Amino acid sequence: MLLTGSGRLAPANRSPWALRIVDGLISWMGEPSDAEDDERVDLGSALVTPGLVDSHTHPIFAGDRSDEAAARLEGAAYTDGGILRTMRATRAADDAVLERLVESRLRSALAAGTTTVECKSGYGLSLGEELRHLRILRRVADRLPLRVVATFLGAHAVPPGMPADEYVAQVVDEMIPAVAAEGLAGFVDVFADAGFFDLDATERIARSAVAAGLGLRLHAEQLERTGAAELGVRLGAASVDHLEQLDAAGVTALAGAATVATLLPAPAIVLRDRLPPARPLLDAGATVALASDANAGTHGGFGSMPLVIGLGATLLGMTVTEALTAATAGGGSALRLAHLSRLEVGAPADLVAWDAEHEGVFALNLGAVRPLRTWIGGVEVTP
Ligand code: NIG
Ligand code: FE
Repeated sequence: MLLTGSGRLAPANRSPWALRIVDGLISWMGEPSDAEDDERVDLGSALVTPGLVDSHTHPIFAGDRSDEAAARLEGAAYTDGGILRTMRATRAADDAVLERLVESRLRSALAAGTTTVECKSGYGLSLGEELRHLRILRRVADRLPLRVVATFLGAHAVPPGMPADEYVAQVVDEMIPAVAAEGLAGFVDVFADAGFFDLDATERIARSAVAAGLGLRLHAEQLERTGAAELGVRLGAASVDHLEQLDAAGVTALAGAATVATLLPAPAIVLRDRLPPARPLLDAGATVALASDANAGTHGGFGSMPLVIGLGATLLGMTVTEALTAATAGGGSALRLAHLSRLEVGAPADLVAWDAEHEGVFALNLGAVRPLRTWIGGVEVTP
């Protein structure tokens, strides 16, 4: 199949453009006039980009915490109480209810141009519940066209009535081996922050993840500057995420690292937090990803990746091209999927034609832009 357009193909900035898809991959890129005749689909003047990659979400939960968001904006603090409230609501939801919630969140993401989504567990906080949530995610993933990458976040909070050390031992000795044995996740994540999991616990969990053959990603430097970013680099984490409190030394540590710096502007503004140092990270040469962090308590926006790109380009001081790249190829790097969502020969043909003409729309419209048509692996999909 040949896709052609007289509009912009971004971030490559080609116009007019043509792109051949064979076996789900981009096999050739060039000018429409150089293309041999083929089954052609012409997208006219529409802006076309790689599919968006949301490399950090928490979609497996029940309950509603919008009251908490309002209370925080009147001065209440952010504590582990919120996660535990979601844990209780989620444990009380049966499989069918939870499955419907997860499916509708992922469909919202797809409808807004996300073609690959990372999904964390972490509202179960017991062996049985965490496995149940990851199995539900797998069932939903199996019937949606989206690419889903599952992450085990048992270390999201310590469940009530258990000493932290005992819970960490359970994550290490029971939960990670069980998740790995069933192939339920490709990554392990830890909320490595003040009041949650300290650096020692994080390192124990990380080593067990690596021993089980799973990749590592960390929630780092969101609430306090703890050194979790440097720990992630040292342990070979695919990504360290949040980074609102990162300082110059942390920027330097990430600059030459294979670990991606994943920035989540939406929860930062919902929490009225500091903004992560996007400009220093980019100027220092770090690989930067932008993701939604859609979750139960600090940002509920499934389907918000167009807004997240807009926030990158406006609030975080990125150019539109940098923000779009961070939300496509950057997310692919954060998920260790090297060719994902790149405009290059050999990359999976995950593409979105937008109801827009220029990528500046992400900054101009702040979220209010929608896909006209979406392809994943060369197959057109409908949300
Ligand atoms: O990424 N930071 C940790 N976890 C989520 C929030 C989870 C919650 O409050 O339910 C986040 O922001
Ligand atoms: Fe998160």
